[in-house]
Amino acid sequence: MHEYYVFVHSTFKKISREIPLSLVPFSLFYFPKIMTILGIETSCDETSAAVIIDGAIQSNVISSQLIHNEFGGVVPELASRAHLQLIIPVLESALQKANISSHELNGIAVTYAPGLMGALLVGVNFAKALAFGLGIPFVGIHHLEAHIYSNFLAEQKPQYPFICLIVSGGHTLLVLIEEPFKHTILGETLDDAAGEAFDKVAKMLNLDYPGGPIIDKLAKQGNPNAIKFPRSFALENEFDFSFSGLKTSVLYYLREHHFLKNENNFSISENAVNDICAGFQRAVVDVLSVKLIAAAKKYGVRSVAIAGGVSANAELRSRMQTLCKENALELHIPALQYCTDNGAMIAVVGQMKLERGISSAFDLVPVPNAAVQ
Ligand code: KG4
Ligand code: ZN
Repeated sequence: MHEYYVFVHSTFKKISREIPLSLVPFSLFYFPKIMTILGIETSCDETSAAVIIDGAIQSNVISSQLIHNEFGGVVPELASRAHLQLIIPVLESALQKANISSHELNGIAVTYAPGLMGALLVGVNFAKALAFGLGIPFVGIHHLEAHIYSNFLAEQKPQYPFICLIVSGGHTLLVLIEEPFKHTILGETLDDAAGEAFDKVAKMLNLDYPGGPIIDKLAKQGNPNAIKFPRSFALENEFDFSFSGLKTSVLYYLREHHFLKNENNFSISENAVNDICAGFQRAVVDVLSVKLIAAAKKYGVRSVAIAGGVSANAELRSRMQTLCKENALELHIPALQYCTDNGAMIAVVGQMKLERGISSAFDLVPVPNAAVQ
């Protein structure tokens, strides 16, 4: 027997299985649990739209804004303008790839926090207007929740409780998830996020933005033991993180060896860059992996997950696989395309919320700094 949902005042209400459908008032309409959800993500420099039907991904279109590369980081005003230009073509492409028209959508999910205010505004207002026009509910999604639940896009989903390490450009957090939407933050970064450290070290080495994928690639050709960079384990809360000391020690190393790009005698060999990338990455991966395993042991969970842009890192992925095997833990890592920002992870949380009767009112406003609830 199916569960049925009614759409009342812009929100879904679940009707218990016991209520015969003949008793549902005619003024309400119902439909089976199969839901066609559009997910929209515009919190930073990726404009993305995805369609999922009953949890299965039909399309996931991501347009990365290359305009920021020449500035070595995201320029907020340029990001908002680019989202405005890209949002309609990206949506049209997502619908086309999913082979549906907008009238077949049952709900819309959109990132409302955290992120760049101007960038969030484009997605939120676009989602509201579309939902209003189509007469369907919409729900605002917390971007970090979406990273956690990006692990549910895979066929094999994490079992509760599990611990997720979120490592992105703006955040580094260890979160205990006891049941859907019951989150406890065990630790977070006291300064730079892991992805931010990758991007800043890349900038020091005169590499392009975003630096993470480039360091990942160059590290493969370097010797991770050639330079020993510091690991910040001894923090008051054992599950907090700090990457600013590591970043500064890379800076000092470059200064000592006259490798800084603003020095007159700047010159650095490819081998030296590769070794610095490998040594830096090794230090980050050591800290992230050790803390995730320690948290899993302390809280007695059997499943762990990683998520966010840095979870695309090859060394982190393989280290976690080895450590989880050794510690009899089940590991969940999103497929590469769902590690960095994408609409599919927004859609999957949208479906989970709409199924539970949770939707947003049309006066929802973006929140640039909201913490995970
Ligand atoms: O999750 P995300 O796309 O955006 C935020 O929510 O911030 O993460 C972007 C971050 C950037 O800092 C980028 O350098 C980093 O993820 N990143 C990586 C890799 N791919 C992306 N860091 C290390 N290795 C990678 N392969
Ligand atoms: Zn993100």
